[in-house]
Amino acid sequence: MNHFYKESFLKEIDFSKAEINYLIDFAEHLKNLKQNNIPHQYLYGKSIALLFEKNSTRTRSAFTVAANDLGAYPVFLGKDDIQLKQKESIIDTAKVLGGMFDGIEFRGFKQSDVEQIADYSGVPVWNGLTDEWHPTQMLADFLTLKEKFGNLDGLKLAYLGDGRNNVSNSLLVTAAKLGVNIQVGAPKQLWPTDEVLKIALDEAKQNGSKVLITDDPIEAVKEADVLYTDVWISMGEDVDPTDRIKMLRPYQINRHLLNQTGKSETVVMHCLPAFHDHDTVIGKKLGEQFGMDALEITDEVFNGPQSIVFEEAENRLHSIKAIMAVTLGDLFIPEYLF
Ligand code: CP
Ligand code: NVA
Repeated sequence: MNHFYKESFLKEIDFSKAEINYLIDFAEHLKNLKQNNIPHQYLYGKSIALLFEKNSTRTRSAFTVAANDLGAYPVFLGKDDIQLKQKESIIDTAKVLGGMFDGIEFRGFKQSDVEQIADYSGVPVWNGLTDEWHPTQMLADFLTLKEKFGNLDGLKLAYLGDGRNNVSNSLLVTAAKLGVNIQVGAPKQLWPTDEVLKIALDEAKQNGSKVLITDDPIEAVKEADVLYTDVWISMGEDVDPTDRIKMLRPYQINRHLLNQTGKSETVVMHCLPAFHDHDTVIGKKLGEQFGMDALEITDEVFNGPQSIVFEEAENRLHSIKAIMAVTLGDLFIPEYLF
C-alpha cells in the first residue's frame, strides 16, 4: 500500500501537512542512504521525461541524478528539442509522452499546462516550477530547516522581496501549512494576491501558524529564525529593471537587515540562482547600471556564516528523489501515518 502511488505533485495545497512532513522525512532517509552508499534503486527500469520550457540548473540536475540513483533513465526534452507548443499542443504532447514514459517532470510558465499534462498523460507528473508555484523547492527548503533547527513547529520565517512570485506563493502556503510563522516583507504592489493569501490564512488557521504581510522590512524580519529571498525579476517577467530595483531596494538582505532580527542564530536562504556578485553576464550588466550590491542579497551575507544556500541547493536532490520514489515506486507506506 502506498498513499502517493501514481499521484502527481503539482502544488502544495493538494497535500496535507502529514503528507508533506512524510515527504520531508523520506527525503532525509534517502539522503542518509546516499551518504552511506546504500543502493536505493526503487525505480529500476523506469523512464522519466524531463520537460523544460525555462532554463534550470538545480531542478534539472536534481531530477537527473535522482533518476539515476533510483535506477531510472531520465531523458531531457528542452523546449527547442521537441515540438511542444510550436507544432504540437500540450495535450497531444502529454498523450504521446505518457504512452512512452513512466513519469514526467514539467517546468514552464502556466500552472494550467502542468495540470493539463497530468490530466492527459496518465502518468505521475511533477511540477518543476511554474509562474504560480514551485512545490519541489519547498520540500528541499523545509528539509534544510528541519536539519538546521530539529523541528519546524513555531519557527519564524521572513521572506523579503517580490511577494507574488512562485517561490513566495509556495513559501507562504507551505509555511502556514507546516506550522511555521511566515512574515512577508514586500512593497504593496508586490504583495501576495488575495487568492494566495486566502489559502495561506486558511492553512494558518488550521495549523496554528501566524501570517504577517507588511511593507516594512524591519517589521518583517523581527525575531525571524530565517531570512529568505529570491530574484527580484523572475524568468519570463517583462518588467522594467530600474523600476523593480528601485521598488525592492529596501528589502535587500544585507548585514544591516540581518542584524534587525535580534537573533544571532538567524539563517539565510535563497532558492538560487542569486544575484549577489557581478560574475555573470546579467549580474555584470546590472552591476554597471545600478552599482555593486544593488540586488536582492549582498555578497557578504550570501557567502557569510549564516548562509545555508548551498545545503538548501543540495537538498533539491534528496527531496525530488523522495517525490519520484513514492509516486512511481510501489513502496510500502503505512496508511495510519496520514
Ligand atoms: N531553485 C531552482 O529551481 O533552481 P533552477 O532554476 O536552477 O532549477
Ligand atoms: N522566482 C524565480 C525562481 C527561480 C528558481 C523564477 O521564477 O525565475
